[in-house]
Amino acid sequence: MVEETVALKSNQQIGTNIWLMEFRSTLLASHAKPGQFLMVHLGERTKDPLLRRPFSIHGIQDGDKVMILYNVVGAGTSLLSALKEHDIISVIGPLGNGFTLPRPSEKAILVGGGTGLAPLFFLAQVLQKDQRNTVTLFLGFPTSQEVVRIQQLKDLGVNLSLTTEDGSLGIKGVVTDLLDQRLSNKGTTKPVIYACGPPPMLKTVAQKATTLSLRSYVSLEGYMACGLGICLGCAVKAAHGETKPYYYVCQDGPVFPSGMIDWEVL
Ligand SMILES: Cc1cc2nc3c(=O)[nH]c(=O)nc-3n(C[C@H](O)[C@H](O)[C@H](O)COP(=O)(O)OP(=O)(O)OC[C@H]3O[C@@H](n4cnc5c(N)ncnc54)[C@H](O)[C@@H]3O)c2cc1C
Ligand code: FES
Repeated sequence: MVEETVALKSNQQIGTNIWLMEFRSTLLASHAKPGQFLMVHLGERTKDPLLRRPFSIHGIQDGDKVMILYNVVGAGTSLLSALKEHDIISVIGPLGNGFTLPRPSEKAILVGGGTGLAPLFFLAQVLQKDQRNTVTLFLGFPTSQEVVRIQQLKDLGVNLSLTTEDGSLGIKGVVTDLLDQRLSNKGTTKPVIYACGPPPMLKTVAQKATTLSLRSYVSLEGYMACGLGICLGCAVKAAHGETKPYYYVCQDGPVFPSGMIDWEVL
C-alpha cells in the first residue's frame, strides 16, 4: 500500500452522472489487482484531511495509467467531478483483497449493475489478457443514458449482454434476468460468478449461486470513513456459522464469497 500525490491526466463526464478519471502511477498500476480499491482525497478544493472516498480501480492501461469510474452522488463526488487535467489528488492504495481469479479454463460470468461495472472492467481486462477463461459479462442499467464503456468492453473481447429497465438499450429487464437464462442452460460447465452492484442485485446473485452450488464472489460498496480498519464503520453482518459476527469491508473485503454475508441484514 502506498500514499501518492498524482496529477490528473483526465476527468471526463461519460454518461448521466458518470465520470471517468485517469492518472498515471507506475507504483499503483504495477501492484493493483482487480477488485482492490483506492481511498481518494479530493484535492485542494477541500482542506479536510479526512475527506477521502473509496473507489474501485476501474482498469489499468499502458502499464501506468490508473482509471476510476464514478457516479456523482454527493458532496465528495461533486468536488471530484469539478477537477480538471493537471489538478492534484492524493490516493492511498491498492487496498482490500481483490477477486479470487477463476482456475484456468473455468468460465467466468461477471454481473454488474450500474457503476458496479467499475471493478469488473479491470477483472475482464486481466482475464482477457491471460485468455485462459471464457468471460461473459452481463451489465444492467436503468436507461441507455447510464450505459458507458461499451466499446472498450467490446474491444476487450468479452461476451457482452446488456439490459436496461426501460428497454431503451439491450434487453428490457434487470441484469439478473440474463443470469437466470444463462444458468438455466443445462449441460454447460459450472461457471464462477463475480458481481458488483446494488445490494438487492447482489442478494439475488448470492441466492442463485447457493441454489445451484456455484462459487460466487461479490464486491461490496459499503460506507467507509477510513478505509484502513480504524473506524469500524464498514461492518457487515457475517452469515450464520461464520467464524466472526461481522466482517469489515475495507479489511476483510471488499470482495467476499457470497455465502459469507448475511443478506437478510445487508
Ligand atoms: C470499496 C468501495 C469501492 C467503491 N467503488 C466505487 C466506484 O468505483 N465508483 C463509484 O461511483 N462509487 C464507488 N463506491 C461508492 C463511493 O465511495 C461513494 O459513492 C462515495 O463515497 C460517495 O461520496 P459523496 O461524498 O459524493 O457522497 P455522500 O455525500 O457521502 O453521500 C451522498 C449520498 O450517497 C449515498 N452514499 C454514499 N456512499 C455510499 C455507498 N458507499 N453506497 C451507497 N450509497 C452511498 C449516501 O447515503 C447519500 O445519500 C465505492 C465504495 C466502496 C466502499
Ligand atoms: S472503513 Fe474504517 S474500518 Fe473499514
